[in-house]
Amino acid sequence: MKLDQTFTHFLLEHQLQHQRTLNFLVLMDGIRVAAKHIQHYYNIAALSDNLGETDRINVQGEQVMALDDIAHDIVVHYLRESQQVIEAISEEAPEPIRMNEDGRYFVYFDPLDGSSNVKHNLPVGFLFGIAKRNPDGEDEDCSLRCGRDFIAAGMFLIPAGVFTFALRDGGAWRFLKDEFGEFVRPTRIFLPEAKKTWELSCNAGYMNTFSPAVQGWLGHYMGRYKFRYAGSLVVDFHRLLDNGGIFAYPPIVNHQDPSNNRPEGKLRLMYESAVVAFIAKEAGGLAVNQYGEEILDVVPQKPHQRSALFVGNQELVRSIQSDLRGHFHDIPRAVNG
Ligand code: AHG
Ligand code: MN
Ligand code: MN
Repeated sequence: MKLDQTFTHFLLEHQLQHQRTLNFLVLMDGIRVAAKHIQHYYNIAALSDNLGETDRINVQGEQVMALDDIAHDIVVHYLRESQQVIEAISEEAPEPIRMNEDGRYFVYFDPLDGSSNVKHNLPVGFLFGIAKRNPDGEDEDCSLRCGRDFIAAGMFLIPAGVFTFALRDGGAWRFLKDEFGEFVRPTRIFLPEAKKTWELSCNAGYMNTFSPAVQGWLGHYMGRYKFRYAGSLVVDFHRLLDNGGIFAYPPIVNHQDPSNNRPEGKLRLMYESAVVAFIAKEAGGLAVNQYGEEILDVVPQKPHQRSALFVGNQELVRSIQSDLRGHFHDIPRAVNG
């Protein structure tokens, strides 16, 4: 009989090896349970009429789907119950959520990523990043931390139940769901260096709205690699980790209707771009924003700040980085995101 190591036991081993407390284990247990609950609601959504939209618009100006709300409530509940979190920032809450004054961690999360996929029963995800409170630091109480300060980040692919988890300087790991719904069998993952499997991923429908530098860069690589886009960051990034290449959500600067321009792209820095940037770094990759700055170095000015994203194998990301730096003037720098 072959029995696998569970996620919790993997983390226990890591914490003990590095003489760390077990508080992080308690926090991650809450996140793990939350993911299983989100997965359950996703699975029964079609039968319980939860595939649709609510009449609410979130802080990003986007229609809130029933499952976005459900997933948000689930994550908040289990983070609170863990008693380890001082403050959390959720895509679905306008303000940071104060939790436990003695908590040691800040958590940033997108409870349901790719919600436009829900009504088609296509995959979605749950993304999170974690920073640690520094009780002696000046900014000990400020949750606006850059990705470089994260101690861990991860994403659950729903409903497949594959969990990708990265620890600072501890690598990126993949866990599979076993027949009891446990995340098991840690496998270290690296972005593949062999170009044979590399893919490009971006919303090509917006091609004409990208800056000349981005269009030129994409034009150069289009046709060299396969092109894939699922419209859910978790799904597209999951695939990227397996096959290598680059995922891009560039700024939209040239829309026919200028009110639809997004000079900072669409994705949110704290719980989307920084999370995948952290995982990518631990998998040997790199991520930069619209100015060619490393995403992990960007200190957020506000919780829901947006950030363009170019993430993937270093060679490809460095090439767009140098093109972006050569065309700095193409993108107006928005004040405070
Ligand atoms: P969310 O469902 O959390 O709002 O995120 C959607 C995001 C992301 O998952 C995806 O990469 C991107 O939106 C797709 O945007 P487009 O439809 O503009 O391509
Ligand atoms: Mn999202
Ligand atoms: Mn979301």
